[in-house]
Amino acid sequence: MSDEHVPAAATPDHVAIIMDGNGRWAERRGLSRSEGHRAGTFRVRPIAEACIDAGIRHLTIYALSTENWSRPRKEIEFLLSLLGERLRAERKAIFEHRIRIRVLGSMAPLPPALRLAVRGMERATANFDRLTLNIAFNYGGRSEIVRATKAILQDRIDPEDITEDLFERYLYTTGVPDPDLVIRTAGEMRLSNFLLWQSAYAEFYSTPVLWPDFDDDELHKALEGYAGRLRRFGGVTSRSGVAKPVGED
Ligand code: IPE
Ligand code: IPE
Ligand code: MG
Repeated sequence: MSDEHVPAAATPDHVAIIMDGNGRWAERRGLSRSEGHRAGTFRVRPIAEACIDAGIRHLTIYALSTENWSRPRKEIEFLLSLLGERLRAERKAIFEHRIRIRVLGSMAPLPPALRLAVRGMERATANFDRLTLNIAFNYGGRSEIVRATKAILQDRIDPEDITEDLFERYLYTTGVPDPDLVIRTAGEMRLSNFLLWQSAYAEFYSTPVLWPDFDDDELHKALEGYAGRLRRFGGVTSRSGVAKPVGED
């Protein structure tokens, strides 16, 4: 690393998406929120395939937050059932594409059958490496950090040995590089407790497009936006003072 800005590859290695706007999408069509959620899940496969084609190695999708439990019981039950349904329905495609599935979040409040399905899928795909699809489900950035802290204390780690690298090994994302690009659909400009630690230097891209309408073209717009960014990582701009976009060495 030089004292100049840090040029990154034009293609991000890790894209993370806050899939928002299912409810608004349904409302505009006079449909139920559940129908919006189902329509949203149908976007995951094409976007995962587009990521593979673009050379992206890691995709993380925010599917259920720890705060979403404040929603009506029926909506939560539907969202839980959708995860099991999609894992079953997409099994063949996941294997064909050699996609590694990881589910980030606390599995404890999930129904036992769903927990088994999740862990089974994680085990069955553990050696796949074309794309890692991390599904953030019952995930919250703050609870992830608290959980890591508790585990470090339980392991009686000497405070002197606690480094950022060590801390990362206690997060759900252990082994996954930090996201380069965080995309949020449906126009909001906030993280909503998503990957708080990992997003420290992620580029943020927000689009008003609702998640069930987010297609390959929208993904490519986000990737183009990313390629035009200058990532400094706390450093200074290039000596010439001319800011260079990522990927332009
Ligand atoms: C995102 O869509 C999915 C989840 C949060 C589970 P929303 O359900 O939040 O959709 P809006 O924000 O109400 O439109
Ligand atoms: C963020 O969306 C969580 C997911 C996409 C799973 P929310 O709709 O829950 O976020 P807020 O409430 O608008 O911040
Ligand atoms: Mg929302």
